[in-house]
Amino acid sequence: MTDQALVALAYSMLERAYAPYSHFPVGAALLCQDGSVFTGCNVENAAYGHSLCAERTALVKAVSEGHVHDWDTLAIISRGDDFCWPCGACRQMLYEFHPTLRLLVAQANQSYQEITLDQLMPHGFGLQHLSDFQ
Ligand code: THU
Repeated sequence: MTDQALVALAYSMLERAYAPYSHFPVGAALLCQDGSVFTGCNVENAAYGHSLCAERTALVKAVSEGHVHDWDTLAIISRGDDFCWPCGACRQMLYEFHPTLRLLVAQANQSYQEITLDQLMPHGFGLQHLSDFQ
């Protein structure tokens, strides 16, 4: 799948977003090395703190289907003119599985910037920091 097609797939998830509180839909699409793709959208809740971001929806779908460390690229998009940068919680959750994950961070017009997770989150905290204590 091309990068542009992955961004388009993330864009298509905007219509699935459940965002009645923020009115800020987010779509994500996670490409794995075997070509499989796990999509996601944000899913909000009346108890706001329980809302789930699009990236973490895609992440949980992938891991729960056995795609744990074979990720290739994650595309993220919303409807605004700004690039849709992943929030801190999503960065941390993604870092657990793929600290150098390739990201396509898009604007609503589907133009995007390419960046890696470790560029966005240098000196991240991961399972390697716990290994001496196991
Ligand atoms: N949101 C995401 O889905 N991903 C992010 O990385 C940033 C924020 C969602 C959460 C909430 O449903 C809405 O955007 C507004 O914060």
